[in-house]
Amino acid sequence: MIRLISFGVGAIFTLALLIAAFLPREAAVEDPAAKFHKPHMHVEFAHQGIFGTYDRAQLQRGFQVYKEVCAACHSLHRVAFRNLADLGYNEAEIKAIAKGYDVPSIDDKTGDASTRPGLPSDRFPLVYPNDVAAKAANNGKAPPDLSLIVKAREGHEAYIYSVLAGYETAPAEFQVPEGGNFNPYFPGNVIAMPKPLSDDQVTYGDGTKATVEQMSKDVTAFLTWAAEPHMEARKRIGIGVLMFLSVFFIVAVNSYRKIKAAVNSH
Ligand code: HEC
Repeated sequence: MIRLISFGVGAIFTLALLIAAFLPREAAVEDPAAKFHKPHMHVEFAHQGIFGTYDRAQLQRGFQVYKEVCAACHSLHRVAFRNLADLGYNEAEIKAIAKGYDVPSIDDKTGDASTRPGLPSDRFPLVYPNDVAAKAANNGKAPPDLSLIVKAREGHEAYIYSVLAGYETAPAEFQVPEGGNFNPYFPGNVIAMPKPLSDDQVTYGDGTKATVEQMSKDVTAFLTWAAEPHMEARKRIGIGVLMFLSVFFIVAVNSYRKIKAAVNSH
């Protein structure tokens, strides 16, 4: 009798499993944004790969794009003007760049908050006094500080490049909300940042043609440097360590062999 009952229970469970396995699953809820979303574009930079180094001319062009376009909305608050020496600027040039920015200070007579021209030791100042002001000026979304953005986003350089160079007109079936802009590379396809670059927006001193793609690439390279200024040293040290370890490995294997031969011969 017990046996019969256990067979019955087993049969019911098996039946339930079979029914569950073959019943059509609930159709996945369709995310309207997913249909138009695109994976980031493929783009190559001189600084990629284990031997890659920054292209100084490109970093300077990228800085120019940041300064003339992006700095209107985005701060770069973890970078000090004197760090720009890495890009190949000399002291006088850095002094002049710093002087072009107003940094917060206090009036030395009244103690009131005021501003003074920047010094090489200052960091790039904030653009908005606080997050509320930043949001209020940008349709409710604060422009993030760009110092670490390349490291902070999945896809890194390729993603940042794609967002900058990838604005498109929205497909007819896609409703872009008020104050938003269609960008299939940005999560959700709607970004509060209006398309920041258009051809010839800056005039490069080295004669490079300022296409949207070129400026996007240059400013992305510059922001990669901002997020990782010591990348070249890191790679150099890494390669040095690997070379040392390989030599050490050969020495170790050889001495092991010698000792083993000596031990075996006794
Ligand atoms: C008019 C103001 C404005 C300008 C100019 C501007 N941005 Fe933005 N940016 C924004 C706002 C606002 C956001 C936030 C968008 C959002 O969250 O929807 C943003 C977001 C971003 C993001 C973050 C995207 C993400 O994944 O969260 C990056 C990167 C960026 N901007 C880079 C730049 C660069 C580089 C430039 C210069 C070429 C630039 N922006 C110029 C307003 C601006």
